[in-house]
Amino acid sequence: MNKRNTVFDCSIIELPKIYNRAGNITPIQTSENVPFDIRRIYYLYDVPGGESRGGHAHVNLQQLIVAASGSFDILLDDGVNKKVVNLNRPYYGLLMPSGIWRELLNFSSGAICLVLASLPYTEEDYIRDYKDFKKHVQSPSFI
Ligand code: TYD
Repeated sequence: MNKRNTVFDCSIIELPKIYNRAGNITPIQTSENVPFDIRRIYYLYDVPGGESRGGHAHVNLQQLIVAASGSFDILLDDGVNKKVVNLNRPYYGLLMPSGIWRELLNFSSGAICLVLASLPYTEEDYIRDYKDFKKHVQSPSFI
């Protein structure tokens, strides 16, 4: 049985920051910084002002979301509780378990949303309809 995740299972984690006066480095490693094997990386950029992204949940995918540049908000929704998280530093990340509806909004100009994901891309893992999401989280197959 799958565990039903809530917005309270989403957490902001501080990532390592290797300071150098000529520029900083933030390394992210499986096991060290994220509790899943990193199987895919993608990044979202050139988001026009006022646009929002996301608007879906995942059945199995876990993610670490980082504002590699600029800032944006993430609205989290587990079907019962909602929470808004602001990401605005490249050395903080939002760890997201599966089964959480998310919207990404209020992107600053030039923002880059870096996502480290636990699985390869597959459309079957997406729940894109909010009514389907509500049905999914109310399913008795969860504990
Ligand atoms: P989607 O995840 O819906 O974007 P967002 O949540 O940022 O609004 O993906 C948008 C499109 O890109 C969709 O057609 C699927 C495709 N896509 C891939 O082909 N591979 C990927 O790894 C991702 C994340 C998206």
